[in-house]
Amino acid sequence: MHLTLAITGASGAILAREALRALEADERVSRVHFVASENSLRVLAEELGVAGRTNLLKKMLGKAPKKIVQHSDADIGAAIASGSHPSDGMIILPCSMGTLAAIALGLADSLIARAADVTLKERRPLILCVRETPFNGIHLRNMTLAAEAGAIIFPCIPAFYNHPADSVEMARQFAFRVLAHIGLPQKDAYIWKPEA
Ligand SMILES: Cc1cc2nc3c(=O)[nH]c(=O)nc-3n(C[C@H](O)[C@H](O)[C@H](O)COP(=O)(O)O)c2cc1C
Repeated sequence: MHLTLAITGASGAILAREALRALEADERVSRVHFVASENSLRVLAEELGVAGRTNLLKKMLGKAPKKIVQHSDADIGAAIASGSHPSDGMIILPCSMGTLAAIALGLADSLIARAADVTLKERRPLILCVRETPFNGIHLRNMTLAAEAGAIIFPCIPAFYNHPADSVEMARQFAFRVLAHIGLPQKDAYIWKPEA
């Protein structure tokens, strides 16, 4: 699979880190295009203590990436900005209300917003892991607009019924749910098994 994963300036950087680690380890994935918005860097520094864009992937993965390539959010000429580039889908994790608005209105003024726009027009899966609380009417309307255009609204709401031992496990299991949704079920994913 060839996927795009973008992170924006919403809370939840740990969710992106766990998704990136799972994608890097997944043999079914041959290429991941990674884009971090300028504002995501501030949140990465706050939440994970990861500072700056230099070696960002290495800092998030704990080792140099083998299949993940990073693009600047300003590079609207990157391969993923064109529908002619083959792709199996795009995940925005976490997705800020600002980026959601740009996608819902078709602004396409950054690589993330353009790649999302392309994903929708090519009818490929676009998963928006929106994160804000509470939502105002604008957020709700933009989620509806994006969903009507084909996006999957996949809010950053972790599960509790799997009794995660800590926040890393909670984030890992959430990331696994997102990956399963794009066709990459993970072997360590918790699966609900009610007693017979
Ligand atoms: C620590 C921190 C946490 C934030 N959390 C959120 C959030 O959960 N959801 C959101 O929509 N914006 C959040 N913001 C605000 C966004 O970063 C801001 O609206 C930004 O313009 C989004 O830009 P982007 O979508 O280009 O990344 C947060 C900002 C900071 C500094």
